[in-house]
Amino acid sequence: MRGFLACLFGAAAIITTGIAVSARSVDGGGLRPVSSFDTISGKKERAVALFQEAGKVIQSPRCVNCHPAGDRPLQGEDSHLHQPLVVRGDADIGAVGMRCTTCHGPTNFDPANIPGHPEWHLAPIEMAWAGKSLGEICEQIKDPERNGGKDLKELVHHMADDSLVGWGWHPGAGRVPAPGTQKEFGELIAAWVEAGAACPAP
Ligand code: HEC
Ligand code: HEC
Repeated sequence: MRGFLACLFGAAAIITTGIAVSARSVDGGGLRPVSSFDTISGKKERAVALFQEAGKVIQSPRCVNCHPAGDRPLQGEDSHLHQPLVVRGDADIGAVGMRCTTCHGPTNFDPANIPGHPEWHLAPIEMAWAGKSLGEICEQIKDPERNGGKDLKELVHHMADDSLVGWGWHPGAGRVPAPGTQKEFGELIAAWVEAGAACPAP
């Protein structure tokens, strides 16, 4: 019961702050187009600069909240621990009896501010981004041991076309979307790979 009430109060607070957020910033800001990096002649420098631009998305709360370093998802613009208390469980879909899908439906449910997607669950722990530098995340997402066995081509495809990643730009009422568009983000990642996929210093 306490949890339920806390949830209700939480939802009310979110709806109030949600209005403030949408009044303040309608979107999460822009991304520089790939062409604006053409003037950087060094291939490595260009790759690093492109990844840093893509990092505005990768390190946004919309992505990091689902790529936490611990057992619990994160919430909000400040990436606080998920309320109510839920855990990843042994398959990243929540504990038995408290699956993510108990509350998260196949689409956003704006009246209660609950985000949704048919595949809603946590990124596995080896894909944790929270608390890591952009350079560390970069090395990790290139590493097939830690990125779900993806080569660079599959990684570009995942970033550009995956619909769970795409949720970041359609996060529902009261949440700031990831910067730019998924298409622009996919183009930055593709150009980064083309330039040799160098990473920022860790
Ligand atoms: C609802 C939770 C959720 C959100 C939100 C989310 N992810 Fe993920 N992410 C996952 C899951 C689950 C996997 C593992 C999927 C798989 O292996 O097929 C994953 C895997 C990935 C991977 C591949 C593995 C790696 O190296 O980490 C990338 C890249 C990725 N996500 C990018 C993003 C980006 C960019 C965003 C934000 C725009 C984002 N994700 C938002 C849950 C999420
Ligand atoms: C008991 C209900 C409930 C369960 C179970 C639940 N959630 Fe949530 N979740 C919510 C509510 C309500 C919100 C919206 C509150 C907010 O964003 O501040 C939310 C928000 C989130 C967010 C925040 C998105 C963002 O970027 O702000 C993430 C990530 C998330 N949940 C992941 C999960 C994952 C992963 C699971 C399963 C391990 C899960 N949740 C299980 C109720 C639940």
